[in-house]
Amino acid sequence: MKNTLTVTDNRTGKTYEIGIDDGAIKATDLKQIKISDDDQGLLTYDPGFVNTASCKSSITFIDGEKGILRYRGYPIEQLAEKSTFLEVAYLLIHGEIPSKSELQEWVDGITLHTMVHENIKKFMDGFHHDAHPMGMIVGTLGALSTFYPDAKDIFNPESRKKQIFRLIGKMPTLAALSYKHSLGMPYIYPDNELSYTANFLNMLFKPSPSTRYSPDPVLAKALDVLFILHADHEQNCSTNAMRSVGSSQADPFSAAAAAAAALYGPLHGGANEAVVRMLEEIGTKDRIPEYLEQVHTHKKLLYGFGHRIYKNYDPRAKIIKEMAYKVFEVTGKNPLLDVALELERIALSDDYFISRKLYPNVDFYSGLIYQSMGFPTSMFTVLFSVARMAGWLAQWQEEILDKEQGIARPRQLYTGIPLRNL
Ligand code: SDX
Repeated sequence: MKNTLTVTDNRTGKTYEIGIDDGAIKATDLKQIKISDDDQGLLTYDPGFVNTASCKSSITFIDGEKGILRYRGYPIEQLAEKSTFLEVAYLLIHGEIPSKSELQEWVDGITLHTMVHENIKKFMDGFHHDAHPMGMIVGTLGALSTFYPDAKDIFNPESRKKQIFRLIGKMPTLAALSYKHSLGMPYIYPDNELSYTANFLNMLFKPSPSTRYSPDPVLAKALDVLFILHADHEQNCSTNAMRSVGSSQADPFSAAAAAAAALYGPLHGGANEAVVRMLEEIGTKDRIPEYLEQVHTHKKLLYGFGHRIYKNYDPRAKIIKEMAYKVFEVTGKNPLLDVALELERIALSDDYFISRKLYPNVDFYSGLIYQSMGFPTSMFTVLFSVARMAGWLAQWQEEILDKEQGIARPRQLYTGIPLRNL
């Protein structure tokens, strides 16, 4: 059996043999298929990249039909149960589980970089009182690039290591600053004696610098697991943005600002916020049929359902749903949970969703947990961005070191007016 494709161009009768590698053909192999010498050759047209591989990657594997998600070969279920977010961040970026000493150096490096320049607080203060925290994150990530000009030295491994420490270390601080700003409350500095997520909860929920606050260990652990589940997801929309901006050799802070901007959208990372607003709009179980009627007629989306890759249950949704009960033991049950459970039950037996293979995704239950932990809906996507920073950096590093990659510059099918004169 030959790993080739034989195609006949019926416009010319010519036949071509095209190589198949890793289950794909090279789009550039189609350029030879022409109808005349001045023809540019055949292009592929794939809006939304539904069936186009933009890169080769060894970081995350997803099997959408089987509901499988693995980071560097490890099943997400095992990592969620046995690992920590910072250990998973190391795994994603370096490719292996760290030794005890490697993990300690990694955690120390990140902890050393949790502080932000005092001028960042002035930058935050410039935002309007009701600025959406995600907009503040996007803006501040871009601004951070101006504080670290050495970040442009992207092919220097030591510089990359330092920027990675900075971005993973500072994301919780930026997130907490944006939250405190939205409340008009004093900023809380990082406490490097606390774990990554306990420090984050402390900066978020410590009422003021002069009051004592001890983050609940169950909630800190729950947030750590949620961060593991959200850390990477192969070539999703925001990772595509990170890689695309990274392909021009921009610094990682500017690339991360673009990635955060992509995550902000309600079809992507903004969905967890949209789910809770949808559940609040539905309000009670008896109003679910009325909402689903609007979904059937394409007037509304069922946020938290559907996925470009998963045509089965998102494995992350299953873990998050189970974890919700542990959080609710501490925080009290979220009153919207019953609406969410009934909505899922009805939708899973509704032909509209079955026929389109639409199942709960990572965002369907995560917002309920965040809300019960005391986060306002506007902070949900910010939490997603804190976790996904690890994946964005792993993918960015893989991109800039991949010799097969070049600047991302897709083609187009021109449908405009050919020529006209003024
Ligand atoms: C994330 O890519 C990733 O990996 C993302 C992510 C990650 O970790 O990075 O997993 C995180 O973004 C999860 C997805 C969160 N978004 C939502 O929950 C928003 C609601 N979901 C949809 O917008 C949609 O399902 C997408 C965007 C997630 C996927 O869209 P696709 O693959 O482009 O599919 P599609 O829009 O072409 O839909 C196919 C059909 C359409 O109906 P028809 O035109 O065939 O009649 O399914 C319908 C869609 O209208 N459909 C939905 C729906 N999702 C798809 N109808 C109602 N509600 C939905 N949620």
